[in-house]
Formats: sequence, C-alpha cells, structure tokens
Amino acid sequence: MIVPNLHLLVVHAPEVANTIRPGQFVILHAGEGAERIPLTAADWDREEGTLTVIFMEVGTSTGKLAMLKAGDQIPTVVGPLGVPMEMRNFGTVVCIGGCFGMGSILPVVRELKENGNKVITILEGRSKNLLYWEEKLSKYSDKVIRLTRDGSTGYKGHVKKGNEILKEMNIIPDRIIAMGCTTLSYLATRDYAHYNVPIIITLNTIMIDGTGMCGVCRCTIDGHMKFACVDGPTSFRMWRILTWKKQNQGNVRG
Ligand SMILES: Cc1cc2nc3c(=O)[nH]c(=O)nc-3n(C[C@H](O)[C@H](O)[C@H](O)COP(=O)(O)OP(=O)(O)OC[C@H]3O[C@@H](n4cnc5c(N)ncnc54)[C@H](O)[C@@H]3O)c2cc1C
Ligand code: FES
Repeated sequence: MIVPNLHLLVVHAPEVANTIRPGQFVILHAGEGAERIPLTAADWDREEGTLTVIFMEVGTSTGKLAMLKAGDQIPTVVGPLGVPMEMRNFGTVVCIGGCFGMGSILPVVRELKENGNKVITILEGRSKNLLYWEEKLSKYSDKVIRLTRDGSTGYKGHVKKGNEILKEMNIIPDRIIAMGCTTLSYLATRDYAHYNVPIIITLNTIMIDGTGMCGVCRCTIDGHMKFACVDGPTSFRMWRILTWKKQNQGNVRG
C-alpha cells in the first residue's frame, strides 16, 4: 500500500513490458473468486521485464489483488490493450493526476518531456496523505503543483482551482491531460473548456474482454458508437472526430 487504499503492484510480464506505451492498460486476474479487471500501466522496466500498476481497492477483485504477497503468481496479465496516447511536441501540456491517475500519468509525463514539451503536473487529492510519486513526476515536469481539497499541502481546492494557479504562473496550456476517476475527468473537461484546447481524459468504463468483442464498454460520441477499450481509453481519437466534424460541418454536440 503506497497511500491509504492505493496499492502498487509490480508484475513480471516481459511480453507486456516490452511493448506497452503511455495510456495503455492491461487486464489482470488475481485468481479464483476474482474477475478480470482493467488497470492502467503506471510504469515498466523493459530490461527487468516488469510492469507496474497502481490500483484502488474498491471491491472483490482489487481486494484480492491487494492481498497478494511478494512472489505470488497471478494467472492472467493481458496486454498491452487500448490505443497509446498521442505523443509529440504540443508546446505546454498540463497533466493532472488524481487517485490512481497520479501513477498512470507518470509514463505520459515522461514521454511528453522526451518530446520536448513544457510539462506542468498537477497532483490532485483530498488530503496531503493521499499524494504520492511527486519525486518521480518532478524528474520529468517543469513544475509540479499540489492541490488538496482540505488545503493540508499546496493549494487548497479542487480541479477548478488549477485555473487560478495557471493564471498566477502565466501558463497557457496547448493541451490538457487528466487521469484518474470519472469525477476528475468530468471536472477537467468542464473547468478547462475555456482554454479551447484538446482535453484528453481516460474512459474508465466497465470492461470485460478489453478487445472490442463484448460491447460492454461502448459509448456514443456525437452519434457514433465507440468502444472505450479499442478506440480509447484515452479520448484523442474521439477528439479528432469532433474536431474534424467541427471543421467540416460546424455542427457538433457533446
Ligand atoms: C481502461 C481502464 C483502466 C483502469 N485503470 C485503473 C487503474 O490504473 N487503477 C485503478 O485503481 N482502477 C483502474 N480502473 C478501474 C478498475 O478497473 C476498477 O476499479 C475495478 O475493475 C474494480 O474491480 P473490483 O472487483 O475490485 O470492484 P467491483 O466489485 O467490480 O466494484 C466495486 C465498486 O466500484 C465500482 N466500479 C467497478 N468498476 C468500475 C469502473 N471501471 N469505474 C468506476 N467504478 C467502477 C462498482 O460499481 C462498485 O461500486 C480502470 C478501468 C478501466 C476501464
Ligand atoms: S471491453 Fe468488451 S468491447 Fe470493450
């Protein structure tokens, strides 16, 4: 457990570790009595052949994963799944990580920096004791900002507060990426919409196979049916559809 209720799991899975990219996920199975669940890659070591995930214990399967001891084996690690996040030099990118997203944003921050971006990382949590990996993220960020709802460290507030902080620092983002729970994703798309830049979030829908076959993760984007597992889980493809429509028809909902 790295902070209350959030666990770090390192799995030896060289085939996955060798090819996984930022924003992709795996489906893990903790064993008998558990279900196969999707978790985002938080880090990997290609030489060691290991993959790291960070997960919140919310129910049966994550509970079973949390009970594993070092050296235990798990029957299933399927991946890499999903489309990697788009990576190039965008200019200034604001990355917001909350909950398990403080972990899964690390590979994103790292590769954005490698692509020459100016990276501003915002760690969002309820309280000081729920923030983690600041040191790792600082290595690849031009600035790391702490945001806590109770004000126990850094700035006091929720996602919206980021606007004031960015203004104070004269930062105008060219792209915003938010990783974490659905509330964080929703608030990021709502509270930063006025920048009029792509806001990339991850769709954490319920998933079964993660390969586009069961249809349980489907969502509707401007009348088009998409599967979060194979068209996402990050929303850049969906954003491109919206932008294309905007440019070509000037008539976009949602
Ligand atoms: C692509 C993808 C990547 C994900 N990455 C991570 C990650 O890196 N770390 C992490 O902690 N979680 C992640 N999740 C969410 C994670 O898969 C679920 O929390 C997990 O499946 C819950 O399993 P469980 O059996 O422990 O809980 P359950 O017993 O299935 O559920 C417990 C509670 O959580 C709710 N719940 C279950 N699944 C989800 C979900 N997907 N979204 C919102 N609420 C849910 C249920 O409605 C219920 O209230 C990801 C989900 C997706 C789709
Ligand atoms: S999880 Fe089955 S289609 Fe996406």
